[in-house]
Amino acid sequence: MAFPADRPRRLRRTETLRSLVRETELRPRDFMLPLFAVSGKGVRRPIASMPGCAQLSVDLIVEEARGAWKSGVRSLILFGIPDQKDAQGTSAWDPDGPVCTAFKALKDALPDLVLVADVCMCEYTDHGHCGPLERDARGHVAVANDRTLPLLARAAVAYAQAGADIVAPSDMMDGRVAAIRKGLDEHGLSETAVLSYAVKYASGFYGPFRDAAQSTPKEGDRRGYQMDPGNVREARREALLDVEEGADMLMVKPALAYLDVIAEVKRISNLPIAAYNVSGEYSMLKAAAQHGWIDERRVCLEILTAIKRAGADLILTYSAVDAARWLQDVA
Ligand code: PBG
Repeated sequence: MAFPADRPRRLRRTETLRSLVRETELRPRDFMLPLFAVSGKGVRRPIASMPGCAQLSVDLIVEEARGAWKSGVRSLILFGIPDQKDAQGTSAWDPDGPVCTAFKALKDALPDLVLVADVCMCEYTDHGHCGPLERDARGHVAVANDRTLPLLARAAVAYAQAGADIVAPSDMMDGRVAAIRKGLDEHGLSETAVLSYAVKYASGFYGPFRDAAQSTPKEGDRRGYQMDPGNVREARREALLDVEEGADMLMVKPALAYLDVIAEVKRISNLPIAAYNVSGEYSMLKAAAQHGWIDERRVCLEILTAIKRAGADLILTYSAVDAARWLQDVA
């Protein structure tokens, strides 16, 4: 027998053969589409650093959601950009704000679409941090953990009452999953699920999102509450804590630079795992594609395949609709 006897290339000879032995395959329902809601009507404000994305008023969100549904995408996560911001972020739970209004309209228009609410105070506070501030012993500003919890619970209840099927806390306060679960249950919302941003790093990849959501902290940064990029054992600790507090799904964020973390969280938990292919990952792809340096379709699907292969059951991605359409015309 000629050496080597094991010849993997035999199974790569034709596309049909390759498709028979493919281990990871994307489906449109793997993707969750993030959208940015603003007040008004007919408002579409393009986000310069995220080509193809825009802040949208409720009517256009419904239109966008219809297109997403048609492409096979089955879930959507909303971020709100309020008209008014204050130190506490009180417009986060405004039942007439853009997020709650959009959920009501979406439930009517597309009853089967899974609606997810991002729960965080940073879009609603005038200082841009994820909760109210206090000074620590050395006089440094820090987010007041325990004062943030009831605010998050209150916002989560408002979104669930407006029609959100899932609430997704992204603030990284300790104890917020338990506080939100309790708030939901006390309001008769025991069917509302919690998708916890359990493992969220303090990342430079959120830059474009903060333009989009106008949520860049005015002073300081988020390293006092988001995780250090060097840590993976701490990711296990955060994930297990959220399981204990009652999370229904766990998220790792960002995705592409943290594939090892996705794999690790998948290994230690039986909950569905989501990964957030964040704004900076999207902007890098778009910028290189616009220069003609990479093939957007090919690289986008390759990135999403890698995130799924690492263990993600669900991928939050600004490319959701494009990717879903590309998959459909391949099939
Ligand atoms: C809110 C939040 C952020 C993102 C999702 N929820 C920004 C941040 O933590 O600064 C980032 C999403 C992205 O970059 O696409 N806390």
